[in-house]
Amino acid sequence: MTGALHVPVLLEAVLQNLAPHAGGVYLDATVGLGGHAERVLAIPGTRLVGLDVDPEALAHARQRLAFAADRAALEEAPYGQLGQVLDRLGIAHLAGALFDLGVSSLQLDTPERGFSFRHDAPLDMRFSSSGVTAAQWLREVAEDELVTTLWELGEEPGARRVARAILRARDREPVLTTGQLRRIVWSALGHPRTRIDPATRTFQAIRMAVNRELESLPAALESAARRLIPGGRLVVIAFHSLEDRIAKHTMRRLSGRCVCPPGAFACQCDPEQVLTVLTPRPVRAEEPEAEANPRARSARLRAAERRAT
Ligand SMILES: C[S@@+](CC[C@H](N)C(=O)[O-])C[C@H]1O[C@@H](n2cnc3c(N)ncnc32)[C@H](O)[C@@H]1O
Repeated sequence: MTGALHVPVLLEAVLQNLAPHAGGVYLDATVGLGGHAERVLAIPGTRLVGLDVDPEALAHARQRLAFAADRAALEEAPYGQLGQVLDRLGIAHLAGALFDLGVSSLQLDTPERGFSFRHDAPLDMRFSSSGVTAAQWLREVAEDELVTTLWELGEEPGARRVARAILRARDREPVLTTGQLRRIVWSALGHPRTRIDPATRTFQAIRMAVNRELESLPAALESAARRLIPGGRLVVIAFHSLEDRIAKHTMRRLSGRCVCPPGAFACQCDPEQVLTVLTPRPVRAEEPEAEANPRARSARLRAAERRAT
């Protein structure tokens, strides 16, 4: 039942870079529907801790990974708490950690989750069942914060125009549905003229803001890297340039290179020799995968290996 719902992205590249092997303990920090985890656990003798904030995704993952239930621990927790979860489970070291960031196709394709403008539905967009919905966030947000969010997280060139249109609309009536938000963006930017709907960037930005998607990522990646055994692998799949930059900078800094902005007066980033970067350039999906799975088109995979100190 779950197999058809979410096609794991860059699966072969994940397996190649994570290099799972018997006896290894792996962390899947965003287990989702368990697509990548299934292949890790298919190797006899592996163990896996899977985290996700979405209870619905975890229920699917539990079914999919039932064949290895005695080797898998699935926990409803954000990756920002990976240290606490691993400590509670008595796991000090990892042979590998995977972060497959962003939204799953189950989330996108479930209308009432409010992630997609393909269905008119309540504007929710939360990965977890708690926290502020997109509708609540839009009710309160100030113009400047909205502009910054649309510009930075959505890379929306018309950020100011869209923000003003949203503020004008919300003065008339609350913005409560995906359909309303899409029409507001169209009113600011015009109707779709290409395959990409102009509302795509706004929806992405608001989803990332509502779920605070970038907030705990740098610390979580570093915490996972520090738990790796020598030779252990850290693998990150990003779908957004800011996520990818965080993965790149974290891996670079932990491989001993300075990532301070050019022209910085003195190094502030405190580089350390913990990792070796395995992917000087990110791995991208090859044509057949990008053709078959549109999500794969924007995926960028980076990997690093723990040094023997
Ligand atoms: C792209 S999907 C992962 C798909 C998974 N690799 C698979 O093959 O099925 C990303 C998942 O990360 C989860 N997620 C988002 N933010 C999270 C966070 N802070 N901590 C843990 N999981 C998170 C989402 O709920 C979603 O299920």
